[in-house]
Amino acid sequence: MMMDRLAIHGGTPTFQGTWPKWPIWGEEELDNVRTVLDSPFWGGTTHGPMLQQIAERFASYCDCKYGVPMANGTVTLELSLRAFEIGEGDEVIVPPYTFVAVPMAVLNVGATPVFADISRETLCLNPDAVIQAITPQTKAIIVVHTAGQPADMPRILEIARKHSLRVIEDCAQSHGAILNGKKVGCFGDCGSYSFQQFKNMTSGEGGMVVTDNAELAELLDFGLSKFGRVRGGQWYDHHRLATNATLTEIQAAILMAQFDRLEEQTGRRAKAGKRLLESLAQIPGIRTYPWGPGTDRHGYHLFVFAYDAGQFGGMSRADFVAALNAELGLKDLAAELYPRTLYRTSMFNLDKKSVAGAPGMTFRVQECPNAEEASHCAVMIHQRALLAKNGAIDAIVESVEKIRRYAAGR
Ligand SMILES: Cc1ncc(COP(=O)(O)O)c(C=O)c1O
Repeated sequence: MMMDRLAIHGGTPTFQGTWPKWPIWGEEELDNVRTVLDSPFWGGTTHGPMLQQIAERFASYCDCKYGVPMANGTVTLELSLRAFEIGEGDEVIVPPYTFVAVPMAVLNVGATPVFADISRETLCLNPDAVIQAITPQTKAIIVVHTAGQPADMPRILEIARKHSLRVIEDCAQSHGAILNGKKVGCFGDCGSYSFQQFKNMTSGEGGMVVTDNAELAELLDFGLSKFGRVRGGQWYDHHRLATNATLTEIQAAILMAQFDRLEEQTGRRAKAGKRLLESLAQIPGIRTYPWGPGTDRHGYHLFVFAYDAGQFGGMSRADFVAALNAELGLKDLAAELYPRTLYRTSMFNLDKKSVAGAPGMTFRVQECPNAEEASHCAVMIHQRALLAKNGAIDAIVESVEKIRRYAAGR
C-alpha cells in the first residue's frame, strides 16, 4: 500500500495555511500605550489610572473583590506566601508536574516544598495525595490549574479547612476557566495570575493576585510589593521588610487592551478544544483529558494529550512531536509537556534532598506515579493553535492520523 510521505521526510505538509500569531495586538494597545507615554505615570510605586482600572476589571472578571498587579506570576506566589507568614520550618504542598516557579516561590520564602502527586485525569493536584502529604508543619497548598483545567477545588478546600491550611490557586495557565459557575482564583485564599508572553493575556511580563480579602490585598499592594509602605503613609517611612514587585503603567496599558479580547478568545479556545478532544479521542494511542468534574469552561492555555508510542509503532514522543510540527508547518506548535517531574530537574538533589542555590534547605517527595507517567507521555499544543479556524483544528487531527498510519505501517 502506498503511504503518504510524512512532511518531516519531505512529503506534503497536512496544513499549508497560517496559524494565528501570538501575542495578538492592535491599535487599542498602541492607543493605550500612547496615553501612558503622554502621562506622568510610566512606572514607580504610585498607582496610575490604568493600573487601577486593570486591577479592578480583572479582579471582578475573576469573581474577586480585589486585584493586586505585580511584576510577574512568580512574585505573586512568593509574596502571597510571605503575606501568610509562611517561612522557615513550614511545609507547602505543591504539584511536581508544573512550572518551576511554584517550588521556587516556596524555597524563596525559606519554606520546604512537598511534592504530592497529580490526578491522572486532570493533571492537577490529587486531593488524596495532598492528604497523605500533610504533616504538623504543613501551612499551605499551592494548587495549579494545569493547562487551563480547574483543579478539584471543592475537595482541596475541604482538606484545607480541616487542617487549617492556606490555599493559593496558581492560575498562570487558566485565565477565564470556570469551575462550578465561578472563575478560578476566587476559591482559595487568593489566586495568582501571570501575564507572561505566552499566557492567554499578556503584557510580556506581569502578574496579579486576586482575592476577596481586603487586608491581604492591602498588605500585598502597599506593603509587600512596594517597599513596605502603607496607604497614605509618609514618604520615606517604611513599615516592614518587603520588596519592589510593581507592574508598570505601560504594561497595564497593554493589559487593558488584552483584557478586552480575553473573553472572546477564551470562548473560541474552549470550542476548538472540545472539537479536538472529540476527534483525537477516536485515534488509538491518543488519550485525551476530558474536562474535569464541575468544569464549565476549560481555560486552554495548552491543549494536552497523552501519547502511547506502543500504538505508533514505537515512534518516540520526541519524533512524534517533530513529525506533528512538520505536518502543521511550524517548529513549535506542539511540544513534549514537562519532560521530567520537577524534583528530577538539576536543582533538586534527590539523594541528598538538597537544593542547588539554597544552602541548608530541603524538599520532600511523595510517591508520584501519575506525574511520572505524564512526564513520559504528555504532549502539548500551544493555545494560539486553538484560535485558528476549524479547518486548521481538523488538520491537527488529520496530521496525527497520518503519522499513525505511517508509524504503524513501518
Ligand atoms: C503554573 C505556572 N506558575 C507560575 C508561572 C510563573 O509566571 P511568570 O513567568 O509570570 O513568573 C508560570 C509560567 O510562567 C506557570 O506556568
